[in-house]
Amino acid sequence: MKTYYDRRAFEYDDWWLGRGSFAERDRAGWDEEVDVLAELIGSLPPARTLDVACGTGFLTRHLRGDVVGLDQSERMLSVAREQAPAARFVHGDALELPFGDGEFDRVFTSYFYCHLEADERGRFLAEARRVARELVVVASIPGDDDPLERYEERVLDDGSRWTVYKRVFTGDQLAAELGGGEVLHEGRWFVVVRA
Ligand SMILES: C[S@@+](CC[C@H](N)C(=O)[O-])C[C@H]1O[C@@H](n2cnc3c(N)ncnc32)[C@H](O)[C@@H]1O
Repeated sequence: MKTYYDRRAFEYDDWWLGRGSFAERDRAGWDEEVDVLAELIGSLPPARTLDVACGTGFLTRHLRGDVVGLDQSERMLSVAREQAPAARFVHGDALELPFGDGEFDRVFTSYFYCHLEADERGRFLAEARRVARELVVVASIPGDDDPLERYEERVLDDGSRWTVYKRVFTGDQLAAELGGGEVLHEGRWFVVVRA
């Protein structure tokens, strides 16, 4: 997975922005919901925030307060440093966070939790709880007839093929996974839960 995200770093935002290989995708309401998501993230009270698996910083730049982004991919981080210059970025493993207990007020994570298999989700939650009291998770909503859990075939611009695990959640399912929480957003594409 590390190699996949490293190779995808410079084309990753095409997915958010509907460019490149995503230009022809039929995603009704996607752009509008991305705007809603950005606004919601920007409306979270300023806090010492750790954005775990921050990727290109596409959402990191909307977080307010003292913001640190962490990712395992140096190429992702190189994009993030350009895109979210107000934040600090750290190379590291989300399942073994290089921070002390309670060092942050909030852990934020987008499109990371949904790519973890069950045992890793447990490890991540323990680490998130150790470093911060609050956890905000952004994930994918199940589409009609979508299996909740699946392996997706992905093709990058260079033609390479990858298999990626994906778990999708309704708001209630995600809140239950996190041990209880508040559904901040549940739309056609995204779910956001604060726990
Ligand atoms: C689907 S991308 C999400 C990026 C960003 N959060 C967003 O929503 O645009 C998943 C990110 O998780 C990172 N990642 C995967 N496993 C990781 C791990 N164990 N530790 C840190 N980062 C990881 C990848 O490098 C990639 O940047």
